[in-house]
Amino acid sequence: MAPSKALQDAETGLLTNEVKPQQHDHHATKHSWHTAAIALASFVLLLCVIFAFLHAESLDPTHNDDHPLDALRLDKGPLNVLVVGDWGRKGKYNQSLVARQMGRVGKELDIDFIVSTGDNFYDSGLTGVEDKLFKLSFTDVYTEESLQKRWYAVLGNHDYRGDEQAEVNKRLNQRDSRWWCDYFYTIPVSVGPSSTMEFFMIDTNPMIESYWTPGNIKNKWTRPTPREEVIASTLANLNSALENSAATWKIVVGHHTMYSYGPHRNTPELIEKVLPILEDHKVDLYINGHDHCLEHVKRDDSDIHFVTSGGGSKAWKNSFHPEVQSRPDVKLYYDGQGFISLSACPSTVHINFIDVTGKVLHKLHLEK
Ligand SMILES: *[C@@H]1O[C@H](CO)[C@@H](O)[C@H](O)[C@H]1NC(C)=O
Repeated sequence: MAPSKALQDAETGLLTNEVKPQQHDHHATKHSWHTAAIALASFVLLLCVIFAFLHAESLDPTHNDDHPLDALRLDKGPLNVLVVGDWGRKGKYNQSLVARQMGRVGKELDIDFIVSTGDNFYDSGLTGVEDKLFKLSFTDVYTEESLQKRWYAVLGNHDYRGDEQAEVNKRLNQRDSRWWCDYFYTIPVSVGPSSTMEFFMIDTNPMIESYWTPGNIKNKWTRPTPREEVIASTLANLNSALENSAATWKIVVGHHTMYSYGPHRNTPELIEKVLPILEDHKVDLYINGHDHCLEHVKRDDSDIHFVTSGGGSKAWKNSFHPEVQSRPDVKLYYDGQGFISLSACPSTVHINFIDVTGKVLHKLHLEK
């Protein structure tokens, strides 16, 4: 067998060192051909490994599995928003995969902004305004062009494990101008000439009794105002903001669940203190994180839709139970990663529950 051109190149080139000295008799030539072929194959394999290492993202199986998207299917409207929760883990544990899909959907919908339902930085919030976790878990992860919009966040219990005051410090906004977080604020936006939507962003953490019992070392109350006063002013602020709002669509966002079949279940403090205010002012949606899933609950005893978007990273808790999914008030319970998109038209709102491949798992349509 005559050695191929490639072999000759290989023998005189890169692979010379691997060719045995006795290469002039026929047997030795055959032997060296085998050696060279194995060496060449190893070299190609090595190149593949290096390539795979450098392009680990693009070889990820879920990327080949990207679900086709189109704005029509996603019901793009004049106002388009993404909502994600429970995410900051330095891009690991699928946080960057979710970020990538948010980038795809965000581009398709030409989104206006992003809402975060809290637990922004695991495992213990930020240590201060200069904490490098802010860059590693936020700036360096949500790099897609469509996500270079304002991020409106509320605080989660993991944020309170660190310096939650750093997250609401406006100096953080100088590190990444997208960032916006506060204990209480509203986002009024226009949906068309005669239609508006308003988001009411609340901090539910002070209301959760178990966090603040003596002996609980995870959360420390370090704010100057006593907790009871903070709760009272949150509820008063929410009530008056809703009362004064003429918005067509009213959406309240807090970290903790209201009604949920996830591991944290319902939050009695919110059902007691917050829910009556939402009912009084005919709020359309309550959106939370905390349970690391995508969930839609609609009960017969309330006109409000309860939506959980907590799948930014920390999902797959094995919290799916078939008997939950078959309950009439559970419209969706998905235990994996994902986020939701919300597209508003003057008289309709379309909400898509989207998984880590970009697949729409469930749709919620509201009409007025
Ligand atoms: C990442 O997502 C894939 C696809 O949904 C899932 O199979 C895998 O378990 C996830 N990994 C983690 C760490 O959550």
